[in-house]
Amino acid sequence: MLTLDLTGKTALVAGSTQGIGLASAKELADLGANCILIARNEQALQEAVKTLDASKGQQHSYLVADFSNPAQVQEVVASYAQQHTIHILINNSGGPAAGPIVDAKPEAFIAAFQQHLICNHMLVTTLLPKMKEAGYGRIINVISTSVKVPLKGLGVSNTIRGAVASWAKTMANEVASFGITVNNVLPGATSTGRLEAIINNKASKTGIAQDEIEKEMLEEIPARRFGRPEEIAGVIAFLASPAAAYVNGTSTPVDGGRTGSI
Ligand SMILES: NC(=O)c1ccc[n+]([C@@H]2O[C@H](COP(=O)([O-])OP(=O)(O)OC[C@H]3O[C@@H](n4cnc5c(N)ncnc54)[C@H](OP(=O)(O)O)[C@@H]3O)[C@@H](O)[C@H]2O)c1
Repeated sequence: MLTLDLTGKTALVAGSTQGIGLASAKELADLGANCILIARNEQALQEAVKTLDASKGQQHSYLVADFSNPAQVQEVVASYAQQHTIHILINNSGGPAAGPIVDAKPEAFIAAFQQHLICNHMLVTTLLPKMKEAGYGRIINVISTSVKVPLKGLGVSNTIRGAVASWAKTMANEVASFGITVNNVLPGATSTGRLEAIINNKASKTGIAQDEIEKEMLEEIPARRFGRPEEIAGVIAFLASPAAAYVNGTSTPVDGGRTGSI
């Protein structure tokens, strides 16, 4: 059925105490989904759950886990999933530290690989059996436009994002026949804590004023503004819905037109 309605569906939304993750949970809840938030800060999770729409009887809750520890993430989620079917998984967490690739330490690649690729993989493989039983699964990975065009000064991130995109495409091919889709959403510069941290980092390393850095960034965006987390979340919510059943294996930039490839 071509509908955006998510009533009766349950979504696990990772990295959801703020930014794109929280905006996604809000959007999914507005469409009727029950949302399970997962991140590290329990107090922030409790506050975030309170902001989700529950007017249609949606049941929201949260799990605490640190994505730098994939085994812990799997344990926490596997225990929850024994009793519940999760239909929608939003793979998302904090981005790797900024910096040129020539300065990157080997450990930083390994940590980012664990936090992004291994955690995504553990979550998918843990939730897959019940998605297959339900005949409905939506796996949406929040990555970055660097999947298409590497971004300056984000060496570790660019490297790991490419691996996540390849993993996702491979997974999409293997699960589609079960009614499960796997898609990537690629945010451009979006007004969140992450963007603020990137701008602050560049300002302190180069001595260039933050306003000047922002101005330079905006010049590269045809829309001439940063995105709002809700604008990324809207695309995520569509991909999570029954209406997007035939969208599979894609990587969609949501970046005001910044990415310079077709
Ligand atoms: N904003 C942008 O301009 C932009 C552009 C391209 C790509 N992205 C990518 O999109 C993703 C989300 O970005 P955002 O801007 O929404 O980031 P954000 O505002 O920094 O939020 C990150 C979220 O992830 C959680 N998190 C961070 N580290 C975690 C960990 N080790 N384990 C579990 N949860 C963790 C945080 O909650 P806790 O602190 O409670 O754990 C928070 O809820 C990131 O991968 C980012 O790099 C963002």
